[in-house]
Amino acid sequence: MINPHGSADLTPLYVTDANKREALLKEAESLPKLLINSAAAANAVMLGAGYFTPLTGYMNLVDTMSVAEKMTTSDGLFWPVPCLNRTNDISSIENADRIALLDPNVDGHPIIAIQDIKSIETITGDQLHSIIEKIFGTTDKDHPGVATFFSHGKYLIAGPIQLLNYSYFDQEFPETFRTAVQIRDEIAAKGWETVVAFQTRNPMHRAHEELCKMASEAVGADGILIHMLLGKLKPGDIPADVRDAAIRKMVELYFPPDTVMVTGYGFDMLYAGPREALLHAVFRQNTGCTHLIVGRDHAGVGSYYGPFDAQAIFDTLPTDALEIDIFKADHTAWSKKLNKVVMMRDAPDHSQEDFVLLSGTKVRDMLAAGEELPEEFARPEVAHILMDFYQREAEN
Ligand code: ADX
Repeated sequence: MINPHGSADLTPLYVTDANKREALLKEAESLPKLLINSAAAANAVMLGAGYFTPLTGYMNLVDTMSVAEKMTTSDGLFWPVPCLNRTNDISSIENADRIALLDPNVDGHPIIAIQDIKSIETITGDQLHSIIEKIFGTTDKDHPGVATFFSHGKYLIAGPIQLLNYSYFDQEFPETFRTAVQIRDEIAAKGWETVVAFQTRNPMHRAHEELCKMASEAVGADGILIHMLLGKLKPGDIPADVRDAAIRKMVELYFPPDTVMVTGYGFDMLYAGPREALLHAVFRQNTGCTHLIVGRDHAGVGSYYGPFDAQAIFDTLPTDALEIDIFKADHTAWSKKLNKVVMMRDAPDHSQEDFVLLSGTKVRDMLAAGEELPEEFARPEVAHILMDFYQREAEN
């Protein structure tokens, strides 16, 4: 099986021993407490679940700058996006060397993790701009990921963590939320060697279904890991439970049995395009996947990134940065001439009019109005799940 990133074994930071967890929770109750932001909580969940192997906790300023500028930690580990715990208010934790982190996303803000504080440093405005510019390629606050990143505070609290629970993810998505450890184990139990991962934050239509099938066939995969984001999204994106239902329906009806694992991970969307694609590759390697599909405008938003920037960035990496291979997909859509879904590069004689193309806004409007989507674009069973959602939204 493919190695985890930078390590012979996964290094999940969740405390698996229940007695130990209980003892830590007890200890945590008397520690200084910090209410962390959603991104820091998501980082904790990813660290806990083994997805961020081999990191041991939140980065300090030297690593943050190094990751932003060179995509390596100061130890030389390839890492594309800093893993941070930031705040504007350190009054409750000054002089502490061990603190309890409170979860902003669960009612009552329970303790999610314990952190050993190695350092608390201040990021200057210039440093913050430079970090954001490197990660997002822009400092425009209209970019939802940039706006969120700017809002997170000037203090960097660095140090290792022990995770005590998976926030709301395992409770809200018991069928779908999986750790990297669980996915690796399941892939091994199935005896799959070659596995294609599909990242998604959207429901899957015909193009996405075929993309998975084309990639799987092209690399001779034993199976496909559909791995959806379950964390926070920008307003207007489809909630995870609706997506999950739609994707499960598509897999049930349109894929051969036992060829697809439908799973999800607990992370907030960054909308960082190319840099996020690299992070996606790191944590799919940690799940044991040999390939990641990167298609058009992967992890993008608006028109901040070129449609294939998230593919091109992989060509700039040193060859030993990652072991996982990238399946680079061209824009994919239904061809009216060929009566099937194709990648546009495979249909050089086509013009745009030869494809069934619908914008996200158009799809939303049609579904909200109860109009059927063309079958060439979406499976009807999938479209109906989405239609129900939009119509419920419209009523509220
Ligand atoms: S993402 O933010 O998670 O990347 P999305 O769920 O829309 O967004 O896309 C999942 C994957 O499918 C990404 O790799 C994306 O590039 C790819 N993709 C989506 N639609 C198309 C398409 N029509 N043609 C080619 N690739 C696509």
